[in-house]
Amino acid sequence: MANSAPIGVFDSGVGGLSVLREIHAQLPNEALLYVADSGHVPYGEKSAEFIRERSQKIAEFLLEQGAKALVLACNTATVAAVADLRERYPQLPIVGMEPAVKPAAAATRSGVVGVLATTGTLKSARFAALLDRFASDVRVVTQPCPGLVECVEAGDLDSLPVRQLLQGYVEPLLAAGCDTLILGCTHYPFLKPLLRELVLADVALIDTGAAVARQLQRLLEQHDALAPQSATHSAHFWSSGAPAQLEQILPLLWGSPAPVNALLE
Ligand code: DGL
Repeated sequence: MANSAPIGVFDSGVGGLSVLREIHAQLPNEALLYVADSGHVPYGEKSAEFIRERSQKIAEFLLEQGAKALVLACNTATVAAVADLRERYPQLPIVGMEPAVKPAAAATRSGVVGVLATTGTLKSARFAALLDRFASDVRVVTQPCPGLVECVEAGDLDSLPVRQLLQGYVEPLLAAGCDTLILGCTHYPFLKPLLRELVLADVALIDTGAAVARQLQRLLEQHDALAPQSATHSAHFWSSGAPAQLEQILPLLWGSPAPVNALLE
């Protein structure tokens, strides 16, 4: 596989763009492919089997486009599908992501950590194992957040309804004494400015986008697959939903406009 081959990144929708931004910041020479499965968003309330099937289809598509590595820029898809994809493609560098329990447990002073994530992530065996491994010395309060993903998909990052929804999810965590909140879904970093207005400055907000980008770099180094310094960056986008809708919010969430192709089923 050529070092100049692209990296394939996907999410249930636009949330993974928060990870794509970190990947681009960390690895500015890499060519990027991004699939938003917006025709099937949200993944959070869907069965693991359904998410595994979608992830397989999207992975196949990205590999057909020549991807040299895959990033599951979605916590919910990772718990449902990363093990299966690693089994199918044992030679391929594959990066998944999970809520940042380890750094949050290390950072908390109150000893109480809150996790905002999807229902699918919070009820998974993988998340339970993460708590067993890293959170035995702290109290972890979990909060599923139905509805937030849909707001971000619509490009609504600060309206009164999204503010009220977020406030309703955060208040019980603050009342429980959390001084550290994990943003355990890739859509939520886009709501960080709003979240900052709702919590005191000394409450830490932790997400995993930058750590995922660093892990991707390590894996590409191990596989001797980093793009050469001379390579020029490019990014291509597909959506299984309405390409025009993604095109419209790319400037807001990705930072620049780009054409979006339809992901044909
Ligand atoms: N962005 C995804 C995550 O990180 C899932 C959101 C959803 O589709 O429910 O979990």
